[in-house]
Amino acid sequence: MATPILGAVLLAAGVMASPVPSQAPEGYPLIVDQNGYQTAPYHGPYTGTPTTTGAVKAPTTLAASIEPKPPNPTATYYNSDGVPKDPMPAPYTPAGGLGTNGTEPRYMVESDFDFESIALGLYQEWIELDLFHDGLARFSDEEFKEAGLGPEARALIEFMAEQEAGHATLLTNMLGEAAPKQCVYNYPYKTVREWVDFNQRLTRYGESGVWGFISHLDSREVANLLSLSISTEARQQLIFRQMSGLTPMDVWFENGWPQSWAWTMLSQYISYCPEGTTRLAWQNFPTLRILNNPNINRISPDQTPNDGSETVGDRITDPSVSDIPDEESCLHNNETGKDCTPAIARNRTEPLSYPGKQVFLQWDSPGQAVGPNNSYVTSTTAETPKFVGWSSQLNLTYSPLTITGENTGYTYQPEGYVYGKDGIINGTMAVVLTDLDLFVTPFNLTQLNPHIVALGMYMAG
Ligand SMILES: *[C@@H]1O[C@H](CO)[C@@H](O)[C@H](O)[C@H]1NC(C)=O
Ligand SMILES: *[C@@H]1O[C@H](CO)[C@@H](O)[C@H](O)[C@H]1NC(C)=O
Ligand SMILES: *[C@@H]1O[C@H](CO)[C@@H](O)[C@H](O)[C@H]1NC(C)=O
Ligand SMILES: *[C@@H]1O[C@H](CO)[C@@H](O)[C@H](O)[C@H]1NC(C)=O
Ligand SMILES: *[C@@H]1O[C@H](CO)[C@@H](O)[C@H](O)[C@H]1NC(C)=O
Ligand SMILES: *[C@@H]1O[C@H](CO)[C@@H](O)[C@H](O)[C@H]1NC(C)=O
Ligand SMILES: *[C@@H]1O[C@H](CO)[C@@H](O)[C@H](O)[C@H]1NC(C)=O
Repeated sequence: MATPILGAVLLAAGVMASPVPSQAPEGYPLIVDQNGYQTAPYHGPYTGTPTTTGAVKAPTTLAASIEPKPPNPTATYYNSDGVPKDPMPAPYTPAGGLGTNGTEPRYMVESDFDFESIALGLYQEWIELDLFHDGLARFSDEEFKEAGLGPEARALIEFMAEQEAGHATLLTNMLGEAAPKQCVYNYPYKTVREWVDFNQRLTRYGESGVWGFISHLDSREVANLLSLSISTEARQQLIFRQMSGLTPMDVWFENGWPQSWAWTMLSQYISYCPEGTTRLAWQNFPTLRILNNPNINRISPDQTPNDGSETVGDRITDPSVSDIPDEESCLHNNETGKDCTPAIARNRTEPLSYPGKQVFLQWDSPGQAVGPNNSYVTSTTAETPKFVGWSSQLNLTYSPLTITGENTGYTYQPEGYVYGKDGIINGTMAVVLTDLDLFVTPFNLTQLNPHIVALGMYMAG
């Protein structure tokens, strides 16, 4: 099936040739492929007028939200002595499981939930395919060297791009003819360092977005194959953290997110989609900006100013600015604890963040046009924000929000542990502004969505 997909990529590029501007707007130079890497003819913003708006809907919507219910009455199995309780269907085959009774597997989505989830996954695979190629083509050998990455690192990233072509093929096949096509993208980075940082953020929502829905899928077969691709994505996220000079792993558990969180973050970087591209049903939340989001390029990340100036742009997962004074930069600082040049492992003396850190916030009002062709609209059903929800590891923890002005406020990074000395808040993670401190756990996190005012991404560490 690889050939039809490559055909689809070329077709998408052809379809897009006329609607996109042939001259890139100022500030977005045309990409010259100087390394033999393939790259899209255009990256930049959407400049047209949307012909349709809003998430795709079914003819009927039954209620404003899902009612919480008591546990499923059949969820009672408990084995106190470790001996099988039910007759075994065959030797060495304990009773139970799904898809274990000999029925032939069908590797296709089995519900609207499955379709919309895998279609979201495919939008993600497409952007990764373009994004990994774009940096390889955009930056020179010299620029890569300056960021501490040599030809072997670039070959690895090229391999990651090829993995994405395979993932896109797999997901397309599990969706069928309405599978979304590849789009045109608008990226925030100006340097190799910012590109790699953007990649570690983007693969975080690619990975967490899937962990959130994979065990809710109707099709066990689709979940099976998807897990085999997302474990690869998880490796990419870790490698981009290493290439950013961050701690490769600072949590014991990777956090899962609802689809609408991943779509909110991802859609902000899609400018055009070809005519007839399947639209998604997920919600776009307003942006929550962390004004003093720790700059990963600083020896002393706590000196990141409180005005948002050290994030490259104002989209949720924009990277830290890399052009800071040499004496403040951890890149090519040769002292252990201060050096954040790419490496297998780094151990910062001054952390990116810490419990008790004051975190300054600013958020958008709903009603903004975002995403492909500016054709989705941000929305919220929540009331006045009162809490900041920190989504990390197995937990969703709240801290109180202090409002300081119109759509601005602050909170303090909370302290808390999962098990033992594993601090909850760490790594590249999601934060939400909420009107309620609703108790949710990994399998019912989506119940929080009606209470979310805005969504952001925090660089803890
Ligand atoms: C086999 O298991 C599937 C679920 O995995 C179930 O839908 C189906 O009814 C079962 N078939 C038989 C013949 O028991
Ligand atoms: C996006 O805009 C382009 C150019 O205006 C148009 O050709 C294309 O059909 C639009 N895509 C969608 C999905 O509406
Ligand atoms: C580290 O950098 C300093 C200042 O550039 C230099 O004097 C020193 O020799 C370097 N040390 C090592 C071990 O490379
Ligand atoms: C790395 O960090 C740990 C804990 O943060 C610390 O105990 C250890 O001494 C550090 N090791 C080095 C080599 O810096
Ligand atoms: C985090 O989640 C774990 C697992 O459910 C739980 O044991 C722990 O108490 C939670 N921590 C906090 C601070 O809520
Ligand atoms: C985050 O992880 C790093 C690396 O394991 C660790 O040194 C640090 O203490 C952790 N931070 C918190 C708040 O637990
Ligand atoms: C989510 O699940 C937990 C149990 O893990 C339950 O206590 C909580 O009430 C549920 N939250 C909602 C909003 O349904």
